[in-house]
Amino acid sequence: MPSPTQTAAWQALKQERRAWNSLSLRELFAEDKKRFERFSLQLDDLLLDYSKNLIRSQTLKLLLKLAKEAGVEALRDAMFTGEKINLTEGRAVLHTALRNRSERPVMVDGRDVMPDVREVLSRIRAFADRVRTGKWKGHSGKPISDVVNIGIGGSDLGPAMACLALKPYGGNIRAHFVSNVDPSHLHDTLEDLDPATTLFIVASKTFTTQETLLNAQAARAWLLASLPSPPGVPKGRGCIRGAGATSSKMGEGTTPAIAKHFVAISTNEEAVKAFGIDPANMFGFWDWVGGRYSLWSAIGLSIALYIGMDEFEELLAGAHDMDEHFRNAPLAENMPVLMALLGLWYNNFWDAQSYAVLPYEQRLARFPAYLQQLDMESNGKGVMRDGKPVKVSSGPVLFGEPGTNGQHAFYQLIHQGTKLIPCDFLAAAQSHNDVNGQHAVLLSNFLAQTEALMRGKTATEAETELTASGMGKREIKALLPHKVFPGNRPTNTLLYRKLTPRTLGRLIALYEHKVFVQGALWNVNSYDQWGVELGKQLAQAILPELTGGKATGKHDASTNALIARLQPVGDE
Ligand code: F6P
Repeated sequence: MPSPTQTAAWQALKQERRAWNSLSLRELFAEDKKRFERFSLQLDDLLLDYSKNLIRSQTLKLLLKLAKEAGVEALRDAMFTGEKINLTEGRAVLHTALRNRSERPVMVDGRDVMPDVREVLSRIRAFADRVRTGKWKGHSGKPISDVVNIGIGGSDLGPAMACLALKPYGGNIRAHFVSNVDPSHLHDTLEDLDPATTLFIVASKTFTTQETLLNAQAARAWLLASLPSPPGVPKGRGCIRGAGATSSKMGEGTTPAIAKHFVAISTNEEAVKAFGIDPANMFGFWDWVGGRYSLWSAIGLSIALYIGMDEFEELLAGAHDMDEHFRNAPLAENMPVLMALLGLWYNNFWDAQSYAVLPYEQRLARFPAYLQQLDMESNGKGVMRDGKPVKVSSGPVLFGEPGTNGQHAFYQLIHQGTKLIPCDFLAAAQSHNDVNGQHAVLLSNFLAQTEALMRGKTATEAETELTASGMGKREIKALLPHKVFPGNRPTNTLLYRKLTPRTLGRLIALYEHKVFVQGALWNVNSYDQWGVELGKQLAQAILPELTGGKATGKHDASTNALIARLQPVGDE
């Protein structure tokens, strides 16, 4: 695939950008009463209104031409058919197989992976049903009331985001998530839990992730210290406090209590066994599932335990709806493709560095954090698929907060700051919990923001308002520049009926495919993450200096001085 800048469309888009110096969205809306109809798209109850973007028909035509010239369709088909498009790791990229609701086989290395996918799903169903109905008992015979997912990155963010989003579908099991190696995270989570009724899910694709293994060891120690030990196993065995940070031996804590209170999700059976979890309590997945694309796999076990398997399958079905749309809809009517092209338009032709996702839905509070990993770990790349430098700006900085909280925090900059920040606004037409007419208030804010960002407020409009308020001419003159809103600030609106598992599945898959298309356009490999390695390596070298009490002085002056300040580590 070429560098995008070598395409004819890229050059034409530069020209198109210049034309936009004299175009205004306000005027385009005034001139074209059909602008919404022309620039919006519906997939079942999910509406994408992209009419408040800095585009006209010509812009869209060129962007779609770019997608064609960059070979997006061919790469998309290669992904769905199991080609090893993750070149640097030699892997297929098939999270779509995990939610394949059709009878279509999905081949990897000449073998259909669907029977394995279905087998794991049926094991998840059987397990979730047993736990949720109280048939799975803890070591002391009590049913499980709380599930703690221990994982990080893709083994945490997706399930944590989804469980919060789908709270109305939650049953009798509470779900908790521990990710940070900061011991306070586990401490604060366990504080209110009863070991007799707590089930730990150790979720790690590799089962080598330091944060996850240390938290899992500490959780095991907590459990064993408080549950009766079987004969011959001293109470508290497996507690590795202090030594844990450097110990890689984890196979010492196998007890019947562990068997009742620990399950693992991983692709690494050996490491799971070494930790002391019976492979019978392990749910597997495969190397063709990237960490940040894994919530559809057994990594979603905490979701299935929380909302039940039927609703979890609805989540999968929602993602499958979007997969089918992405595979089959023409580029011009393809939601992920359009969103990707609009993002690229601002990123590469308007010099936008960032991008905000603003859900007007409190339960999507973790959606921006989830998307940060999806987008920034996937497309935060400086070289193309062939290893040559990316000559254009690649993935943006993504941030966001639920509306209306963000309005009272950072929207000032989006409205009047010097940076262009394209935004996605998301909302449900119906709330799960409307009281006091508050949902209408939420929606009025949601609509007002995109209108304000598009229209802005001219100096004349601001002056008229100030005059009407009775302000004197001199005061108006001083205040006026501060009251002007430039407008012409682009937004997408995503509107859906209600936040159901199916809708959430569609939304997540929409963003996954958007990220895929942008990766294809920038010609980067969206499926590796080598950028996280260096920090991990250096931390390994620093740890003994902190715990062994001996600084080596082998770092730069800053790092040496900071290590010295931290000697000895621990309570004073
Ligand atoms: O930080 C890098 C990363 O590999 C992520 O991509 C991944 O989601 C996370 O670590 C956790 O990895 P694992 O599931 O193997 O513990």
